[in-house]
Parts: sequence; C-alpha cells; structure tokens
Amino acid sequence: MVRRFSIQLFAVFIASFMMVSLVKAGEVEVLHWWTSGGEAKSVAVLKGLLEKEGHVWKDMAVAGGAGANAMTVLKTRAVSGNPPTAAQVKGPQIQDWADEGLLTNLDPVAKQEKWDDMVPKVVADIMKYEGHYVAVPVNVHRINWMWCNPEVFKKAGAQIPKTWEEFEASAKKIKEAGFIPVAFGGQAWQEATVFESIVVGQGGAEFYKKAFVDVDPKALNSSTMIKALDTFKMVKSYTDKDAPGRDWNLATGMVIKGDAAMQFMGDWAKGEFLAAGKKPGEDFVAMPVPESAGTFLFNIDSFIMFEVKDKESQKAQSAMARLILGETFQEVFNVNKGSIPVRSGIPTANFDSVALQSMDDFKEAAAKGTLHPSMAHEMAVSPAVRGAFFDVITNFYNSNMTAEKAAAEFVNAAAAAM
Ligand code: GAL
Repeated sequence: MVRRFSIQLFAVFIASFMMVSLVKAGEVEVLHWWTSGGEAKSVAVLKGLLEKEGHVWKDMAVAGGAGANAMTVLKTRAVSGNPPTAAQVKGPQIQDWADEGLLTNLDPVAKQEKWDDMVPKVVADIMKYEGHYVAVPVNVHRINWMWCNPEVFKKAGAQIPKTWEEFEASAKKIKEAGFIPVAFGGQAWQEATVFESIVVGQGGAEFYKKAFVDVDPKALNSSTMIKALDTFKMVKSYTDKDAPGRDWNLATGMVIKGDAAMQFMGDWAKGEFLAAGKKPGEDFVAMPVPESAGTFLFNIDSFIMFEVKDKESQKAQSAMARLILGETFQEVFNVNKGSIPVRSGIPTANFDSVALQSMDDFKEAAAKGTLHPSMAHEMAVSPAVRGAFFDVITNFYNSNMTAEKAAAEFVNAAAAAM
C-alpha cells in the first residue's frame, strides 16, 4: 500500500517536473501566412533550426496570399493584449507597429551578429525604428516575373514574349490551341501584383516610382497610366472564367500542369514549381514581365517581435532573430522559397539559374537606380494609400470603368487616403 502510494507520488512528481520543464522551454508563437506547398516547406526550415536549439515553435499560420488575413488576425490579437511572439510584417507597417510601443528592441542580437555589416542599408532602414532594429529581414523577392510552361508555348507554336505586342500575338495562338494563356487569380492583391508589373513594363522604372512610390498625381493620371490600364484589360481577356477568387498557388498549379501557358507573379511562384519537382529552364521558364527586364520591383519579407516577459521566451525570440539572418537559414530557406538572400556572404552554389539571375539583376538595378519597392506588397506606400490603389485597380479590373476614369480615380483615392 505504502509502496503503491509512493509510486503514485513519484509519478505525480515526474509529471509536474515535466510540465515545469515544458513551460521552461522557450516558446515562440509565430504568426505568418506561408501555407502553400513551397512556402510551408520553406518556413519549416526555421522551425527545425529553432527546435534543434531546444526551443518550441508554436505555429500560427493564417492562410491567404500576401497576408491580408494574417494582418487582420494580428490586429485582433494585439488589440486584445495577446500578440504572438513574432509576426510576419513588412515595409512601412513596421514603423506603425513600433509606434505603438509593443516591439522588442533587437539591437543586442543585431550588434552581436553584425547585421549592419551584412544587410544593405536600404533594407536595414526599413527594419529600424528611430535607429533601433525592431524587425529582422528574411529575403528579397522580385515581383515582375513571368512564369512559363515551355511545352504549352511549343504546342501552340507561340514564342515566350518579351514585349506586349509579342504577348498579344502569343496569347492569341495559345488560346486558339485550346490552352489558357494566362493563369490568373482574381483577388485584389494579385490584381495589384500583375498591374504594377505592367506599369513598370510600359512606363519604365522612373514612371513606376513617380506613380506608386512618390504618389505623383501627374504620373497617376497620365497617358502612360491609361496605356497600362488598357494593357491590364487586354491581359484579362486572356484569362479564364474561373479566375475570380482563385488562390495564386492554384494559378501556378495550372502552369505546372500545362493547362495554362504563363502566370505573372513574384518569385514565390518558383517555390511551387520546385516543390512539384520541376526544373528551371527545362520544365518551366522564368522571364521578366514584358518590357520590364531592367527593373527590379522588390519585396522583402520580415518578422517583427513583440515584447515578451518570460526569460526563456526572450531567449527563444532572440534565437529566432539570429537564425533568420544566419547562413544556414538564408541559404536553405531562399533556395526553397524562390527568393534570394537578404544578406551578404551566402554561398551561391545551391541556387538555381533563376535565383542567380535575380541576384545579378538586383545588383544591376541597384547600380542603375531601377530597384524599386513593390506597392502591391506593402513596401512602397502607407497601408491607407495602398488600400486606395487596390480599390481603384480592382474596381477597374472587374467593371466596365474606362481607363481614363480609373487614372483620374487614382489621384482622388490617394488624396483621400493621405
Ligand atoms: C508576399 C510575400 C511572399 C509570399 C506571397 C504570397 O507578400 O512577400 O513571401 O508569401 O506574398 O503569399
């Protein structure tokens, strides 16, 4: 009897010890929107690295391309006083969150790891609030890419286009051959992604900057913008009737399967091709969006960290920040994700031809002044102005609104949002 009692007591002791040690392990709850095949595979790398160091990863994945749903969840959590440990937040929004006074100062880990020496200043500036790091950058994505299935082009006797004129000629042939020329997802952020690439293609880098970075009314309501809007509608005529609401990765899947010839999308699309076992240059071809070759529209993913009280969680949080800019993560994650490393000193041997081209184009665009932040992906303007632009783009795309009216609307909507 006594013996049985002591065994029970021992079991209780062990159980409570285990609970204490569970609580003691540093935990990071990470809010992100990387749920597609390629994205999930990529973010799993970070989870694995943290777990290897003995920390606990609590996954808070909120599906929805470009993070619209994730941002809603984040705001709700923050308002109720229960933010996650880390959240995927980008561009000017980082400053807004820091303004609320909720973010952890990451300077200690930044100093120890010498972030200032390995991250370009333009990127570091986005991550800093009043001179202090409050976010850690993950990667550099390029927006103005076109993903092609060469087999479909071949079957249709069409060429992969470099100009909008060539695009129209090829798209006609592809349609006649019974394929969908453009795989498209009718969601506001995807419409804006495609449209900003068209704007770069038709107006050039300088024009893009004036319109979507500087919010210059003369550029917004101009003949160049009207031409880009008309091209956007022309592209629409080569999409299929099921495009409304379609997720971006399903659109990529149409190109992978050979139902569609091409998709205009940032290079996270490459992550889907790779996850499906496809080889660049053989099974798929990546080209800049027509007429946009010299320009690099960039999109940098990053994580902000919220203040946590528990010492072990603080350790886990700082480990996460360190690992993100560490060599292993930068290499493995970016190879899978389709992006390129955001820091210097990462060996390029394991990166494919598309990534290598992206690295070269990034450097060249930076030198030439044609490296610009993506409006659609929250890098260029405030959330309010971005929202105003999205409304005009989506209303124009989904109605009979004229291009002239939409161009004028850009000016009105931006003014009201500023
Ligand atoms: C972008 C993000 C990418 C990718 C994409 C689709 O905004 O920067 O990493 O996840 O959305 O969800």
